[in-house]
Amino acid sequence: PLARPRQGNVPGTDYTPVAPNTEDRVVIPEGYEQGIVIRWGDPVLPGAPEFDFNNQTAAAQEKQFGYNNDFAELVPLDGSGKRSLLVVNHEYTTETHMFVGYDENNPTEEQVRIAWAAHGLSVVYVEQQGGRLKPLPSKYNRRITLSTPFELRGPAAGSDYLKTSADPTGTKVLGTQNNCAGSMTPWGTILSGEENFNQYFANADSVTEPTAKKRLARYGLKGTASTRKWERFDKRWDLAKESNEANRFGWIVEIDPHDPNSTPVKHTGLGRFKHETATIKIAEDGRVVAYSGDDERFDYIYKFVSNGKVKQGNSAHARRHNMSLLDDGTLYVAKFSGNSPASEIDGTGKLPSDGHFDGTGEWIPLASGKKSFVPGYTAEEVYIFTRLAADEVGATKMDRPEDIEPNPVNGRIYCALTNNSNRGSTGNAAPDEANPRVGNKHGHILEIDDDAVGTKLRWNLLLVCGDPNDAGTYFGGFDKSQVSPISCPDNVAFDRHGNLWISTDGNALKSNDGLFSVPVDGPERGHVKQFLTVPHGAETCGPVIRDKFVTVCVQHPGELDGASADKPASHWPDGGNSQPRPSVVAVWRKDGGEIGAS
Ligand code: FEO
Ligand code: CA
Ligand code: CA
Ligand code: CA
Repeated sequence: PLARPRQGNVPGTDYTPVAPNTEDRVVIPEGYEQGIVIRWGDPVLPGAPEFDFNNQTAAAQEKQFGYNNDFAELVPLDGSGKRSLLVVNHEYTTETHMFVGYDENNPTEEQVRIAWAAHGLSVVYVEQQGGRLKPLPSKYNRRITLSTPFELRGPAAGSDYLKTSADPTGTKVLGTQNNCAGSMTPWGTILSGEENFNQYFANADSVTEPTAKKRLARYGLKGTASTRKWERFDKRWDLAKESNEANRFGWIVEIDPHDPNSTPVKHTGLGRFKHETATIKIAEDGRVVAYSGDDERFDYIYKFVSNGKVKQGNSAHARRHNMSLLDDGTLYVAKFSGNSPASEIDGTGKLPSDGHFDGTGEWIPLASGKKSFVPGYTAEEVYIFTRLAADEVGATKMDRPEDIEPNPVNGRIYCALTNNSNRGSTGNAAPDEANPRVGNKHGHILEIDDDAVGTKLRWNLLLVCGDPNDAGTYFGGFDKSQVSPISCPDNVAFDRHGNLWISTDGNALKSNDGLFSVPVDGPERGHVKQFLTVPHGAETCGPVIRDKFVTVCVQHPGELDGASADKPASHWPDGGNSQPRPSVVAVWRKDGGEIGAS
């Protein structure tokens, strides 16, 4: 049990933290209540049938809430916040948990088509009733799937590398997949990152031309048959037949939830990699800065600075203008330098003698419009094979950059580095001041003071995560006897006071994942507290923190070694002998008060 001293009284984080546990339920602080907002399979579009686990069809799934909810956001439709559009990413499918008796070697065409329809995003109109969020039928409701047409835009659109037999123009892609984290733009659209897209493509090994092979390998495209065998039902998943289709994924996509008939966009200007997300900060001069991390061990943090300036308001006219901002600008990659002697970074997490993991950094330009800054790479090659271009310029290899977001109160940028089991191992990058631990099991939180449109930054580590009893952890200088253990930070969010909220994925402390709050300024900076835990085997995703409620996406409940639909390891949320269903959960105060208020 954790002590809860009242040192100061930070608005937004005054609640009794929940203890680490391994329960098959969502555990919330005393005095709070919870409810399911929407589950995998719940109706979204008119005519959608009720979910029937044992009789799924692709036609039903196309109208129902998709699988494995990750990012979520509530886009307000009015000033009161009572009416909003819940926009959710459906990252990936786990067929062994979706179908009883699933044969990995011989999926049926219907199972494959259900999976295509279970990907993408959902837009669902919701009304706030007390703390509860109620999904309702509406003209805004929409499913985006692997069949929805997207427009490829920006400097690499139309490139020969993006052309396929189905799309000789290189500008029109069907669908989006592995949408992990995301953000709401200041103009009311949604950005969503296509992350581990590589896993769905077969037969990379058939490509032998050395440059093409190197490009595939750098994006993790390898092997023969894919795990899901989609290539049997659509040749676009077969690199032996459509070598460019994989180049059409790995982008930041933008969706306008206000216009259900709008064509979503893939923005080539932000580069192609395993985008966790992109989030926007508006610079003082009105230009738009988009931050994005590439979630892979030893990959990079990027930013994009637009040439154009934002138009205020969210009229259709302003939105159309602002949705073009990410098509024209400069793409940079980050280099972080420590200010302590390298000899003081011993790999254990022990603070250097100046008491901080900190330093300065720079943004190295990669390309701007048709101009490349990387020798040996054309601009379109920089945009489409961004990882390889960034390798050339001395960017800092990070411990898996996950979510990255500007804090709306203090303006600083916060990035979750989730973990990196290979840091410091033979043949891999050694620890550095920005990634200070060998075999980083628990991850850390990077805080950046960025000159938004400029190329200079200062940084420090706010948290070096793990069990606070472990000497190699750091909680912003706060008394470690009073904090919650935290491991593997993934998504970040902010409440209106500027407190950072962190959700975790893969807790390496043998307890369930969860959601945490931490003040970032003042005497309680670093006072990490656990607000909730999710069911066993689940990951906590997409936190939304509002005055009267918190929502989280519970992704892959029961996804544990040896578990499957034939042998479920969770019965959340429906209980009894039911199959687990990824779902969005809302939490609010029983007394109707503000979240975390005294
Ligand atoms: Fe899908 Fe990087 O988490
Ligand atoms: Ca230092
Ligand atoms: Ca994530
Ligand atoms: Ca993750």
